[in-house]
Amino acid sequence: MNSLVVYFSKFGNTQRVAEAIAEEIESVGPVRLLSSDRLNASDLENVDLVVMGSPTHRMNLPEVVRPIFERLPKRILRGKPIAAFDTSYKMSPILARFTAAKKLAQKLRKLGGSRIIAPETFHVIGREGPLYDGEIERASTWAKTILERLDGKGDK
Ligand SMILES: Cc1cc2nc3c(=O)[nH]c(=O)nc-3n(C[C@H](O)[C@H](O)[C@H](O)COP(=O)(O)O)c2cc1C
Repeated sequence: MNSLVVYFSKFGNTQRVAEAIAEEIESVGPVRLLSSDRLNASDLENVDLVVMGSPTHRMNLPEVVRPIFERLPKRILRGKPIAAFDTSYKMSPILARFTAAKKLAQKLRKLGGSRIIAPETFHVIGREGPLYDGEIERASTWAKTILERLDGKGDK
């Protein structure tokens, strides 16, 4: 199974989560870890799983991440399993509805991707981090769940 983990990270926290996820997924095959500013349509060919992560900025996707989706062909992820995560502060349940992970999942589904797991948020203590204790472990567990679900679906 070939996987792609794409991330944007301003201060390095989302990158650390992306690395932990990639490390876990590597147990079942090659993983490419790619910064979102370098993502092109060709990176999405021949991949069996796409995981994407970003920080939440102003209760939304960071502005730099939004144009990425516009340069990808429609339906390029047709039928491919997708998973999305973000990093953010611990927010009240009402504000926690507005996360970058949810927006990313919507964008990936619009490209034809098939959601394999609910969007997940990993929490930072302050604007520049660090992540709360245990968040890297939680990211590894989240990635394990993705693999279990892929396995359950009978995918490679
Ligand atoms: C411009 C800006 C806006 C932000 N807006 C939010 C927000 O609306 N909600 C939130 O929980 N965190 C917000 N944050 C905190 C980020 O989520 C935090 O910086 C991020 O998780 C750190 O990840 P990174 O190290 O990968 O950049 C904001 C940070 C910046 C820089």
